[in-house]
Amino acid sequence: MSNNLLQGKKGIIFGALDENSIAWKVAEQAKAQGAEFVLTNAPIAMRMGKINELAEKCDAEIIPADATSLEDLDHLFSKAQEILGGKLDFVLHSIGMSPNVRKAKDYADLNYDFYHKTLDISAMSFHKVMQVAYKQDAMNDWGSFVALTHVAAQRTFPDYSDMAQAKSMLESIARSFGYHWAKKAKVRVNTISQSPTVTTAGKGISGFGDFISFSENMSPLGNAPAEDCANYVIMMFSDLTRYVTMQNLFHDGGFSTTGITPEALGAE
Ligand SMILES: NC(=O)c1ccc[n+]([C@@H]2O[C@H](COP(=O)([O-])OP(=O)(O)OC[C@H]3O[C@@H](n4cnc5c(N)ncnc54)[C@H](O)[C@@H]3O)[C@@H](O)[C@H]2O)c1
Repeated sequence: MSNNLLQGKKGIIFGALDENSIAWKVAEQAKAQGAEFVLTNAPIAMRMGKINELAEKCDAEIIPADATSLEDLDHLFSKAQEILGGKLDFVLHSIGMSPNVRKAKDYADLNYDFYHKTLDISAMSFHKVMQVAYKQDAMNDWGSFVALTHVAAQRTFPDYSDMAQAKSMLESIARSFGYHWAKKAKVRVNTISQSPTVTTAGKGISGFGDFISFSENMSPLGNAPAEDCANYVIMMFSDLTRYVTMQNLFHDGGFSTTGITPEALGAE
């Protein structure tokens, strides 16, 4: 369904690896809603993933960038404005990676070099993205940044490990930079806290299958699908949400405010 909610808008979408990625669904929806955009991912993901397929489908160019590299980001924002013919209206940060989670390190035995990487890739990169855009004056008035997060920022989920700190930091960066972007160009900065979703990043967390079914049972509406998350992102990029900023917005079927359900207790 298209209401042309993003007609005339231009942007950058980070993090589409394969068709399961939340960013992939956002790109498909953004295209359907009339947006023009550039796709980007880490150079290594270009080799592993299927981003070329998506680029063809969306008529979008790909500019590789490691989101932890200021040099890559600087190039990305200049090139994107050149390709799209002007300043940008939206940016999706859909990036997460923890070497500690990947290597199944126990939380009481974390590797601190890995910990730095987790925070740099999954959280500080959002600051870097916004700082580069800020310095280049790359955003149109009333633009919108969205980053994806998880309720482990507020509550303990043991297997989420150091990604919990990364998500807390990510949400804090949205609040802090949201102030500066609002003052500079009325640009909004928000995070969307999504239900567990079967993607490459999601599946990397141990016990993920059991957690998905627990979460399904604990969410009155059930887990929110990736396609619906994409719809929410589109709404946040659209002009329908111009005064929403510096918020962490739950998109989780009610999970975050539910105490207990008969289904989670295993009752009939
Ligand atoms: N899947 C879930 O259960 C879930 C739930 C809530 C929030 N999220 C968040 O959604 C976002 C997208 O994840 P996803 O679930 O679609 O998984 P995904 O694995 O498809 O996407 C993660 C992306 O991060 C990219 N990435 C990693 N390191 C990078 C770097 N240095 N520079 C640039 N890109 C890099 C990967 O290449 C990949 O495209 C993440 O922030 C994730 O934490 C996921």
